[in-house]
Amino acid sequence: MSLMPKFTLLLVALALGACRGGTSTSPPVHLVLDMDFQPKLKSQSESSFENWTDRRSMRLPAEGTVARGSLPDPILMPDPKSAGRNPDGSWISRNPLSLNAETLERGRERFDIYCSICHGLSGRGGNGPEGHGLVGRRWPVAVPNFHAAEGKDNRVANLTDGEYFEVLSSPVGRNTMPSYAARISVADRWAIVHYIRALQNLGKQ
Ligand code: HEC
Repeated sequence: MSLMPKFTLLLVALALGACRGGTSTSPPVHLVLDMDFQPKLKSQSESSFENWTDRRSMRLPAEGTVARGSLPDPILMPDPKSAGRNPDGSWISRNPLSLNAETLERGRERFDIYCSICHGLSGRGGNGPEGHGLVGRRWPVAVPNFHAAEGKDNRVANLTDGEYFEVLSSPVGRNTMPSYAARISVADRWAIVHYIRALQNLGKQ
């Protein structure tokens, strides 16, 4: 090999070597900008836009507006202020979501994702070594069993559909159970209630 290619190789090796490990306080040279610099506000940050006197970058919805798809459904939630109740204050006794294979399957899927870790895939709850859910097993209080004949707490098995729906719609959850209001849509909550009933009926056989 003549001297020139050797020299070029050395230069390339040095140039590549410089990319590794070294730190620099000067900003990198941006030959291709891509979308690295954007005029945007990051969440939880302060805005300098002077019309927004509160300086929040995260804006509240304009007053009197409703986000698309968020209109309260009068059938699934007859009293928007009190989930699970009829306008006269009584608990909804019959699940208003029509029951078919699709809604039941949706309920099973959501139950398995959100509830089974504590209440168990079978809905038998419990804690300690006997617990049916991986997380419920370690829970400081016993997770309720949805099956009346087996559970010590028949109250939970005998709640109305509306009461189940209310537990899932509560913004604070129930005692040590976390809230699912923001994670599970109104229709999916009713689908889960259908599935709990299906589990209970299976348990009776
Ligand atoms: C992180 C564990 C955990 C998860 C996940 C969980 N639960 Fe619970 N749940 C509990 C515990 C613990 C209680 C008992 C709360 C108490 O009274 O201390 C409970 C109570 C309940 C009750 C009875 C409320 C009452 O009136 O006493 C219902 C109904 C219920 N859960 C349904 C569900 C459904 C449906 C899901 C899935 C969307 C779910 N839970 C997910 C832990 C959990």
